[in-house]
Amino acid sequence: MTQAWNPVDYQEKGSFVPVLGEPLLDLLAPMAGMRVLDVGCGDGALTWKIIEKGATVVGIDASEEMVQAARARGIDAVCVSACDMVFDGEFDAAFSNAALHWMTENPARVLRNIAGALKPGGRFVAEMGGEGNILRIREAERIALQRRQLDLDVLAPKFFPSAETYKAMLEAAGLVVSQMTLFNRKTRLPDGVAGWLKVFSTGVLSALQNDDIPAFLQEVEALARPYLTDEQGWFADYVRLRFVAVKQ
Ligand code: BEZ
Repeated sequence: MTQAWNPVDYQEKGSFVPVLGEPLLDLLAPMAGMRVLDVGCGDGALTWKIIEKGATVVGIDASEEMVQAARARGIDAVCVSACDMVFDGEFDAAFSNAALHWMTENPARVLRNIAGALKPGGRFVAEMGGEGNILRIREAERIALQRRQLDLDVLAPKFFPSAETYKAMLEAAGLVVSQMTLFNRKTRLPDGVAGWLKVFSTGVLSALQNDDIPAFLQEVEALARPYLTDEQGWFADYVRLRFVAVKQ
C-alpha cells in the first residue's frame, strides 16, 4: 500500500519535519567534496541544506510527486524505492530523516542496499520513528477504522523498531553502529490530530467514503484527546530512533 503525497500540503503543514531533522545535519557534518545519498529525500527541504554545505547529493524517493518537488529545487533526485535502488560503493555517507519507517516491505533489504551504496568507512546517519512512535495517534486511528471493518496495519503499515532490533539489522547489513539513541519528541500540532492525519495519513483517508471523513476525524480526535492534549493544545507522541552506523 503506497501513500499519495501532496507536496503543497506537505510544504505548508509538514514543514516541521525538515526543521526537526536539522540536528541530524550536525551529525552528518556535510562538507565540500563529500558525496551523499539522501534516502527518502521527500521534497528535498533538508537535502538542500546538505547541498548548501558544499556536498554533492543524490536524493531518492518512491513518490513521483515528491521527486518532482525536489527537482524543482534543483536537486538531483531519482524516483526509486530504497528496496530497489542499486548503487555500488560510491557514497561517502547516506542520510535519512523521517523516511525509514515508511519502508515496511523489506527493511533488511533497504539496509543492505544502503550499505551497498557506501564506500568502506562510509557513514549512515539517520533518524526514524522508533518503538512507541505515535502510539496514541495510531491507537485512535485503529479503533475508528475497526468500527468501519478496516485494518490500520493493512492501510498504513509502519515500521517503528526498538534500538536493539534495528542495531541487529544494521549489523546484519554490514554496518557497525557507533551511536544510537531512542528519545521522546513531543511535537506540537497547531491543527490538531485531524490536521496531522490530513497530511500524513492520506493512505487511510483515501480508503474512507468522502462523506465519512469528517466523522472519522472527529472520532479519532475524541479518542486521542485525553492523551495528546495539554494546556498548550494538541501534540504528537513522536519517538525518534537516531543513529550513526559505519560500513566495514
Ligand atoms: C513520523 O515521522 O514519525 C511519522 C510521520 C507520518 C506517519 C507516521 C510516522
